[in-house]
Amino acid sequence: MKAWIAPRPGLVKHRKSQIMEKITVPLGERSYDIIIESGGAARIGSAVAGLGLRGKGVIVSDLEVKRLYGSLVADSLTGAGFDVTVLTIRAGEENKTLDGVARLYSDMLSSGLDRKSFLVSLGGGLVGDVAGFAAATYMRGIRFVQVPTTLLAQVDASVGGKVGVNLPEGKNLVGAFHQPSLVFIDPKLLATLPAREVRSGFAEVIKYGIIRDPDFFSFLEWNHEDILSLKPALVEKSVAVSCRIKAKIVAADEREESGLRAILNFGHTVAHGLEALTDYTTYRHGEAISIGMACAAEISSKLGHLSESDADRIIALLKNAHLPVTFSRLDVEHIVARMRFDKKAIGETIRFVLARNIGDVFLSDEVPLEVVEEVLRRRCDASP
Ligand SMILES: NC(=O)c1ccc[n+]([C@@H]2O[C@H](COP(=O)([O-])OP(=O)(O)OC[C@H]3O[C@@H](n4cnc5c(N)ncnc54)[C@H](O)[C@@H]3O)[C@@H](O)[C@H]2O)c1
Repeated sequence: MKAWIAPRPGLVKHRKSQIMEKITVPLGERSYDIIIESGGAARIGSAVAGLGLRGKGVIVSDLEVKRLYGSLVADSLTGAGFDVTVLTIRAGEENKTLDGVARLYSDMLSSGLDRKSFLVSLGGGLVGDVAGFAAATYMRGIRFVQVPTTLLAQVDASVGGKVGVNLPEGKNLVGAFHQPSLVFIDPKLLATLPAREVRSGFAEVIKYGIIRDPDFFSFLEWNHEDILSLKPALVEKSVAVSCRIKAKIVAADEREESGLRAILNFGHTVAHGLEALTDYTTYRHGEAISIGMACAAEISSKLGHLSESDADRIIALLKNAHLPVTFSRLDVEHIVARMRFDKKAIGETIRFVLARNIGDVFLSDEVPLEVVEEVLRRRCDASP
């Protein structure tokens, strides 16, 4: 039996079969809108024109996304009167480096971009992070628009202004807070996304249920199959709920100062260790987070914060969504050592986001290392 989905206030019927939702991220003079519009990609030009941007811009994409959607977005911007060039960066986490950004700066210079120009990031979280970092730093910062094309980027990476690159020592160790001027989400662009990438993004969707919204978590338990097969209404709801939660958290703690924004890192402490240890090549980001969330749920339960049944529900949903909850061929001591390099490490303590309930998480600096190691050992040995 499937859960019935009620239409929500805030959803506006927009022409036939298109649903449009606008969520504002209220950040004073850095406020911006997230527009969610199915089949709306051809309207990006007019949306960008509505920001008061003029003249020269670049679209930054990777080769695959450029092939699929480069012309659609470029034509839309040209049609709205902009002079745009499409630039590409290399796909793959191994290319999320300062060298990659340096190449992009050169291309931006050759394209004639000045301080008044703008950048449109068209792609997944990787393109958004690298292009966003280039926008944050090129000529001391230019305006940019996020057009996310993966589920992970639509529900998470494109919102909140965190941009940056990796160092060999760890993920996202160099970066900036640079809020976009607009996030334009067309869920229809997900139609071409490989199934593994859809699942990876779904891990972040599950994360929102765990950190903030028990009803949404139940909705995902009921509807995960249809979301993974990209049923439009269910994907739109998942993207909208996720963006609303992220927008609220970012608005309350833009620069991760109060500890609130850090709860978005549920599952990330272990995930970043796993990703760094495997040179970012074994796991998709969401897969590493899935394993990390299974570990965080178990640690929360072992420390008496979360009931065993809730930890089981979290792990069951991840498994039902065909996401990994165990790992193999990695040494637990090495994972812990890598986690200490992570920027979430404070001195000798590894910081964790733990769960009290589904929908209620908190930041803890008091996680004993032996509990982390014990759970990692279990997750390493447990059968999938
Ligand atoms: N800044 C943030 O707040 C934040 C949050 C979460 C993750 N991230 C970052 O996001 C990155 C991961 O992003 P991702 O999971 O989106 O992967 P990705 O950007 O690496 O894209 C994955 C693959 O999907 C392809 N692709 C993208 N859109 C497509 C489409 N519509 N159809 C077909 N193929 C498509 C790309 O070419 C690429 O090969 C990581 O670097 C992670 O650190 C950033």
